[in-house]
This record gives sequence, C-alpha cells and structure tokens, in this order.
Amino acid sequence: MKTVLIINGEKYWDNYFAGFNVVRKKVQTSEFLIKNGSLYVADAEGACSPDVIFWRLGAVNPEARHRNMLELIQYSGIPCVNSAETLLKGYDRLSMLNTLKKLELPVIDFNVATATSHLKNLEMTFPFVVKVGNHHGGYGKSLVSDEEQWEELKDLLFIHQDYATVEKFIDYKYDIRYLAINDKIWTMKRKGRYWKANSLTQEYRIIEPEKQWIENVKLLQENIKADIVAIDVLETEKGEKTILEYNDIPGLTGFPEETKLEISETVKNK
Ligand SMILES: Nc1ncnc2c1ncn2[C@@H]1O[C@H](COP(=O)(O)OP(=O)(O)O)[C@@H](O)[C@H]1O
Ligand SMILES: [Mg+2]
Repeated sequence: MKTVLIINGEKYWDNYFAGFNVVRKKVQTSEFLIKNGSLYVADAEGACSPDVIFWRLGAVNPEARHRNMLELIQYSGIPCVNSAETLLKGYDRLSMLNTLKKLELPVIDFNVATATSHLKNLEMTFPFVVKVGNHHGGYGKSLVSDEEQWEELKDLLFIHQDYATVEKFIDYKYDIRYLAINDKIWTMKRKGRYWKANSLTQEYRIIEPEKQWIENVKLLQENIKADIVAIDVLETEKGEKTILEYNDIPGLTGFPEETKLEISETVKNK
C-alpha cells in the first residue's frame, strides 16, 4: 500500500485517500531527513517514508525551516502537490508578487521596505492596507483609516522583524477567487464581516469565470507549474479588477466538492 503524507491541512482530507496508507504530520512538530537518498519525516509518533506528499500548510506562522523542508522534498524527488519548487516560489509573498508582475498581470501597486522600522517612509493617503511578512488567511494585515490608527500600528509593528508592504485600500464591490486545478477553473465571490473577505466569511457564491480571467489564471498556472492555484482579485464598482495575490495552497471552503476530488485524484496519480 502506498503512503500519502498529508502535511498540516484540514481534517477532512483523510476521507479522500481510500486504499492508501494516510499519514498526517505537522511542520510544527516534525523534522525532515534524507538518508541514503530516502526522505523521512519524523515526529513523536514515529518516522514515515512517504510515496507522495500533500502539502496543505495553512495559516501557520512562516518559518525559515519550512523552506528547508521543501528543499529536502525537492532533493528527494518524492512527488509533492504542489511541487516543492512551486511552493518555494510562492512561499515568500514578495517572490509571489514579483512573479505576477513579471507576467504583466494587473497586480496591486505597493510601497515596501525590508523592515517595519521604515513604515513611516511608506505612508499613503488614507485609507491604506499594511501587510507584514508571508502570512495567509487574512493574518498580518491591517486597514489604516486615520493618523491616530497609523501611529498606533507603526509603534506596534516596530517590534516585528519582517518586511512590510503598504497598498491603497480598494473599496471593492466584489472579492473574487479564481481557482485552477489541473485544466479546470472555478470562480467564487466571497464576503467577510469586515474588510477582509477571507476572515469571518459570511457568504460564498460560485459564479461563471470571465474569459480574460481564465486566460490570466492559466498563464500563471503554467508559469509556476502549479497543479492547484488561486488568484484573489478585487473588482470595484466601475468594474476595474486588481490582483492582490496568488495562493498555491488555497483554501477550498465554498467551492464545490469536485475541487477536493480533483486535487486528491492528482495526489493519488503522482
Ligand atoms: N488593498 C486592499 N484593499 C481592499 N481589501 C483588501 C486589500 N488587501 C486585502 N484585502 C482584503 O483582505 C483579504 C486578504 O488579503 P490577501 O492579500 O488576499 O491575503 P491573504 O489571503 O493571504 O491573507 C482579501 O481577500 C481582501 O478581501
Ligand atoms: Mg488571499
């Protein structure tokens, strides 16, 4: 029986790998090793030598050692979904944004500095959004509406050792996620309780993707060689669309069941 190792990820994935030996481990409590060319992933439960890895790291505080783990996966040649190479490229938000820029996709403009101590030099007209480091799931992002809030946030972020971006707040009508898995595309509108559509999400609605955006997401998918990728797009009242990010470990909440079947089949086929 082949072993599929699921790294972090939602509990429900266990149900998608009937006929496989499913092992689950977390980056927080595991170490990766390569010995005589074989990859082992060890934690308190024991060591596992997987045939395939399904990397589902979500809103976990990013650490340099996660990149080391991905490098070991790549070195071992054990298949991983997405590939370790793809995940390494998307791990750093700046590298992810550079990729979108290089492809000339309509990615959001931003001011950026390699340390939060320089936030004072990145100011824009209010309201604007500050994003620190490589966090996902809405974490590490704050909307700044006035001078007083800005003062407070700068002081607090001063103690944070990471790079920071500042971008204009887009007063969006729709927050849209385009999801590509293999050659299939799904599109969803999301609404959050406050300004972040992906936190305290109240509404998910599947819509028809636009032709231009199918092309955009395919262009990206081919370029980064992703089995699965999502792009987050904001659409204003006037119909202008801006990409905020791409996500190579996208959450599938609100998408049809098909999406989970499609990606789990991809893992099995590897
Ligand atoms: N510049 C912005 N203007 C308006 N809303 C934003 C902006 N940046 C982020 N958001 C909101 O916050 C959500 C999360 O931001 P995103 O950049 O996609 O990071 P992540 O999903 O990795 O936390 C977006 O889906 C969107 O609803
Ligand atoms: Mg997002």
